[in-house]
Amino acid sequence: MRVCRTIAEIRNFVRECRAAGQTVGLVPTMGYFHEGHLTLMREAKKSCDAVVVSLYINPLQFGPKEDFAEYPRDFDRDAAMAREVGVDAIFAPPDEEMYPEGFCTYVEVTGITGRLCGLSRPGHFRGVTTVVSKLFNIVRPDRAFFGQKDAQQAMVIQRMVQDLNMDLEVVVLPTVREEDGLAMSSRNVYLSVEQRRNATVLYRSLCAFREAVERGERDAGKLRRLMVEMISSTPGAEVDYVEILSVPFLEPLEKLRGRCIAALAVRFGKTRLIDNTIVEV
Ligand code: PAF
Repeated sequence: MRVCRTIAEIRNFVRECRAAGQTVGLVPTMGYFHEGHLTLMREAKKSCDAVVVSLYINPLQFGPKEDFAEYPRDFDRDAAMAREVGVDAIFAPPDEEMYPEGFCTYVEVTGITGRLCGLSRPGHFRGVTTVVSKLFNIVRPDRAFFGQKDAQQAMVIQRMVQDLNMDLEVVVLPTVREEDGLAMSSRNVYLSVEQRRNATVLYRSLCAFREAVERGERDAGKLRRLMVEMISSTPGAEVDYVEILSVPFLEPLEKLRGRCIAALAVRFGKTRLIDNTIVEV
């Protein structure tokens, strides 16, 4: 597995792949791998000849009071895990390589970034779409792989690719969960034993939402209250948002109709967790 620290190095690697007639898959990550990341890498391996994993904790997508400094980092562990699943190259640039002095160009998707995490984390998606466009331009992959846990991120990136005619396929894969349903996330390591136990309420509330929809409930207000009550009555859980919106335009709904997403963000102390589920009515 090749480890590239500069844009020139990863471009050389991709050039070699192209010269050998290979297709290239990209898995953008911020590292501290878990089974969710590994699933993206394995799937990328199945449909692309060469797989590049980018490992870059993008300062642009963190707010001033967010966890950029504490975000878990362990390059050697990540590299060993990526090698084990057959990744061909890791692109792990330093900040100066991604944002050299004088950098002042940003990519911004409007509309759908004005809700959910876009409201709680101003500037977050502008940081994500800027770095992801840069990664797409640097690697020029045939396919890029993202997880459904970050549903709004996946929709925003799909929108950007469509609106800016970027020549690649965005593949979104189902959320990978722990045995008790908690969505895998690098941030789960921040949770205390008690918070970790209580954090299962995110998944349980989404299951309660799905069950109520299956029983015929269509009132978005009632469904939202059901989830908020479950979460709020859990020790240590503080609701950031619980929303039921249309897919893919993320518009508020009174009655569920067509494809709808129930999305939530919940804080346990300083740790903010997100999860979601999509139903078709
Ligand atoms: O989902 C993430 O880990 C990040 O937001 C991404 C897509 C790698 C961009 O920094």
